Amino acid sequence: MNKPIAGFSKLSKEEKINWIAEEYFSTPSAAIALLKNYWNTDEKIQKLHDEFIENTITNFYIPLGVAPNFLINGKYSTIPMAIEESSVVAAASKSAKFWSTRGGFKATVINTEKIGQVHFIYTGDVSKLDLFFVQNKAKFFNDTESITKNMQKRGGGILDIVLKDKTNLLPNYYQLHATFETKDSMGANFINSCLEQFAKTLKEEASTYELFTTSEKDITVIMSILSNYVPNCIVRAEVSCPVEELAEKHILNPQDFAERFVQAVQIAEVEPFRAVTHNKGIMNGIDAVVLATGNDFRAVEAGIHAYAAKSGQYSSLSHAKIENGIFTFWLEIPLALGTVGGLTSLHPLVKLSLEMLKKPSAKELMEVVAVAGLAQNFAALRSLTTTGIQDGHMKMHLNNILNQFEANDDERILIRKHFKNNAVSHSAVVEFIDNLRK
Ligand code: MEV
Repeated sequence: MNKPIAGFSKLSKEEKINWIAEEYFSTPSAAIALLKNYWNTDEKIQKLHDEFIENTITNFYIPLGVAPNFLINGKYSTIPMAIEESSVVAAASKSAKFWSTRGGFKATVINTEKIGQVHFIYTGDVSKLDLFFVQNKAKFFNDTESITKNMQKRGGGILDIVLKDKTNLLPNYYQLHATFETKDSMGANFINSCLEQFAKTLKEEASTYELFTTSEKDITVIMSILSNYVPNCIVRAEVSCPVEELAEKHILNPQDFAERFVQAVQIAEVEPFRAVTHNKGIMNGIDAVVLATGNDFRAVEAGIHAYAAKSGQYSSLSHAKIENGIFTFWLEIPLALGTVGGLTSLHPLVKLSLEMLKKPSAKELMEVVAVAGLAQNFAALRSLTTTGIQDGHMKMHLNNILNQFEANDDERILIRKHFKNNAVSHSAVVEFIDNLRK
């Protein structure tokens, strides 16, 4: 049985690795060698990565790929994507190329409001709390001035604070629900600092508020935290073209294709099992760009899925229609992104990705990310409604199988040649390799 350890975080990196290797691996030296093999040879870069988190023992690689030829609002971009799934970058690139000759992608940021809440318990007369809030609202703004000063210079700050009575959900539960504009930063630190000051002001002012009884003065703040659900921080991405222009190699009958495509989207709109997979395809594009640009993909995921369920039933994030012979495909998603602060000025590859995107504002990055999601969804639905997904997917996955079996160069040539015209499946490739090696 493995032993627990006290004071692990105080050990040096070398000591941590040695302990793990001894404790968990049958050949400790091999584990140590592997971990060290992934250290960056540039000590400065390695130290930077070591310090992103606690207890770093090595780096975990994910490929950074690029999808070129994205025509967005009339300008070409090459989109950086950090992702491990074989077919994602290829699919994005194919979509980009397809739409570049059909008017490109149009993207618009609809609004950019962020949200944060102080959750608290107040036991007493609601009308007195209402009056207290009205009389003290300015104080919440004043007390956060030192935090908001710089953000205000950039055109952002606290937009509003409202008191919300949530006692229909939980006894004595109220919120200070605040909205923020955080310009080019994602704003998590800014919002949370403001909220923690609101909580302090709330407690202090309540404790001396004359109209409150002793128990009413004793407000309990449960927590102060931003919300990753940002339904008023929305970006829209769209493609459209006359139906007949959809024709290409796999789309011989564009009207039939457009109709099947719209039906596929409608299925995802009404059927949650399909909606989840449909949206997962969208997230393939979104997460990859969010990660490459140093943004918080967990926050983005949580917020987007909540948005997909906003009607009470989980549904498709994208929509499609054919009207007057025009095929239109679009999505609207909430995205809280930053192009300053956080990892954006720290991680060398994040800086490189942002430079590749011509140092976008947060709004411009929202547009790029939404487009990547739409492109990915288009590629998936195009395959699903025509050739099926496995054809392209398995062709891309072939490399992984070849690597797994450590195929040599000659074997790779023969295998690729064979599977150009034969369906790739894991067992078919294994059988082919076995026969080659006999
Ligand atoms: C695979 O990563 C994503 C898809 O399943 C998305 C979809 O089904 O729409 C192909």
